Amino acid sequence: MDFGIKNRLSRIFSPRTGRTVMLAVDHGYFQGPTTGLRDFSNIIPLIPQADCLFVTRGILRNIIDPRTGAAICLRVSGGPSILGELSNEDLITSMEEAIRLNASGVGMSIFVGAKNEDRTISNLGRLINEANRYGMPVLAITAVGKDMGKDARYIGLACRIAAEIGAHIVKTYYCPGFEKVVEGCPVPIVIAGGKKMPEMEALRMTEEAVRAGAMGVDMGRNIFQSDSPMGMIKAVRAIVHKGATAEEAFGIYRKGVKSAAVPAPDGNMEKV
Ligand code: 5RP
Repeated sequence: MDFGIKNRLSRIFSPRTGRTVMLAVDHGYFQGPTTGLRDFSNIIPLIPQADCLFVTRGILRNIIDPRTGAAICLRVSGGPSILGELSNEDLITSMEEAIRLNASGVGMSIFVGAKNEDRTISNLGRLINEANRYGMPVLAITAVGKDMGKDARYIGLACRIAAEIGAHIVKTYYCPGFEKVVEGCPVPIVIAGGKKMPEMEALRMTEEAVRAGAMGVDMGRNIFQSDSPMGMIKAVRAIVHKGATAEEAFGIYRKGVKSAAVPAPDGNMEKV
């Protein structure tokens, strides 16, 4: 691996711990203004807690402060909306654009076992060919369709394919037996959070994934749809970077809920 790729990877993965807390806020690229991402007023205060922001160019250009300290991983695939065939994605953002936006990585989805499987995997190959010319790490996301299982065999298959094609990082979903998935994948894996679940469950999943060898998270809804997004991102950070247990992390989240509810002297709710 050359200097450029290593240097960019060291912006995504903390050199102190080798792990990452990526905050995923790209959902609008197919879901529109989804819950928690209607506007970004609740997201902006979270950004300093993230090692990396996973985001589209539209949000980056229009909403994110260019002085941000968080690394940027740019979602570069898209096409269909939630109303269409999700696997029908193509590459929609160029490498030149990613470099102009000073991205530390680019990410796209592959749909293993779904319609358009072959095209999304060859799109990944094309993206990696292009990215390697410029020293840009590629994050491959193993999207899981409604009809697909989430067991270690299937997830392991999808992750291994992504790595074989040349992805530098793989993002996938946690499943029981996750050590097997990690064992079969020669590049770092980060987990997505998936649908919003109770905070304790999301923290437990994070702890189990990290124990099984995940190098962090690229988490969205379980952070920004929480009643305390700030409490939740700090709790996830404690697990990923400090080895906290889910119980310890839950205490951090609870503090966030309490302080978010404390009225500030001006009568407004104080930010955590
Ligand atoms: C959408 C994505 C999201 O970034 C990913 O699903 C992570 O977000 P969440 O934790 O909400 O699942 O890739 O296709």
